[in-house]
Amino acid sequence: MTIIVTGSAGFIGSCYVRQHVGSSDEPVISLDALTYAGHLSTLLPVMDKPSHTFVHGNIGDKGLVSKLLAEHKPRAILNFAAESHVDRSILGPEEFIQTNVLGTFRLLECAREYWQGLEGEAKANFRFLHVSTDEVYGTLGKDDAPFAEDNKYEPNSPYSASKAASDHLVRAWHHTYGLPVLTTNCSNNYGPYHFPEKLIPLVIMNALNGKPLPIYGDGQQIRDWLYVEDHTRAIRRVLEGGRLGETYNIGGWNEKANLDIVNTICSILDDLQPKADGSSYASQITFVKDRPGHDRRYAIDARKIERELGWKPEETFETGIRKTVEWYLTNQQWATQVTEKGYREWLEKQYG
Ligand code: NAD
Ligand code: TYD
Repeated sequence: MTIIVTGSAGFIGSCYVRQHVGSSDEPVISLDALTYAGHLSTLLPVMDKPSHTFVHGNIGDKGLVSKLLAEHKPRAILNFAAESHVDRSILGPEEFIQTNVLGTFRLLECAREYWQGLEGEAKANFRFLHVSTDEVYGTLGKDDAPFAEDNKYEPNSPYSASKAASDHLVRAWHHTYGLPVLTTNCSNNYGPYHFPEKLIPLVIMNALNGKPLPIYGDGQQIRDWLYVEDHTRAIRRVLEGGRLGETYNIGGWNEKANLDIVNTICSILDDLQPKADGSSYASQITFVKDRPGHDRRYAIDARKIERELGWKPEETFETGIRKTVEWYLTNQQWATQVTEKGYREWLEKQYG
């Protein structure tokens, strides 16, 4: 048996691959286009493992994907590949349509053709698992119930709209062609190997480098944070036991305002690596212009995956965020290396 993991050199895909290869001998073919967000260094711990093969390529390349499917005959495709940063989608949405919509469409077509050619158990057991986000549901008011699987899709950013489109394609390929699909919609992740353009790693790295810690608007926007390894464990559960055609919401029951997140990071850093002048890292907090169309609150109702598949997060926010800060303290070089490709230009465009 073999699985194909796309977007395997990114934050969450690489965590899935490291976890899978670390706990099973099943061959993993990992496919990644190595965009600015994809780095082979995230796969370093598994690069020399005989069960892991890295392929540099695009999910939209039908020739390559069909060849990989014919050659390796996987029992599953897990699709993590995506453009994933909301701010980048606002400044340049085109890539989001290319990868998240067109790329997913092409991957689905290759999967359909491959699956239709399978027989017996191989056909019955095949799965296409699509990794998506809670952002497809739009935004919540302060007192609204968290997003459940039957919530209306109301995406507000080019990123979430492109992910919503990909979710709809996956759903349609199941209903129309019978492709055995599973979709997961997860809340905000954090943890090691997170590219330092997202809030948590950006704040850790800026704090250590003596730079401003940018808070959009009033900093009272709420996200539901989940440690990345809990997310990938949930995906494994869904792959092994999820009901075909179903979607599963994944979240940590852990809603926090952005400003509270940043203050927590500052106090952990104050403890682990106090500044020479005795001041707190929190003195670097700077309020900046808000993100256009900024969603106010996300929260996940994770009762379906808990009930049906017995999944629960293992990490609390307190343990997970401390581990994360410690990881960045010992891996500052990783964060510096991955931000060499055009990162400075991005910071200039986004923060001026
Ligand atoms: P990421 O940006 O860190 O990684 C994405 C990876 O996909 C990169 O390695 C990139 O090189 C690769 N990629 C991009 N376009 C590609 C293409 N056309 N072909 C092949 N590879 C391509 O993103 P992430 O945070 O790891 O997110 C992974 C998935 O999880 C995404 O689908 C995202 O929407 C979803 N998700 C993310 C979060 C989060 O908090 N980060 C939460 C919920 C869901
Ligand atoms: P982000 O990590 O980009 O994830 P998402 O937009 O997918 O939720 O942002 C998390 C929250 O932090 C979001 O409300 C935007 C906010 N934010 C800031 O306040 N400052 C920043 O510099 C960044 C990158 C994000």
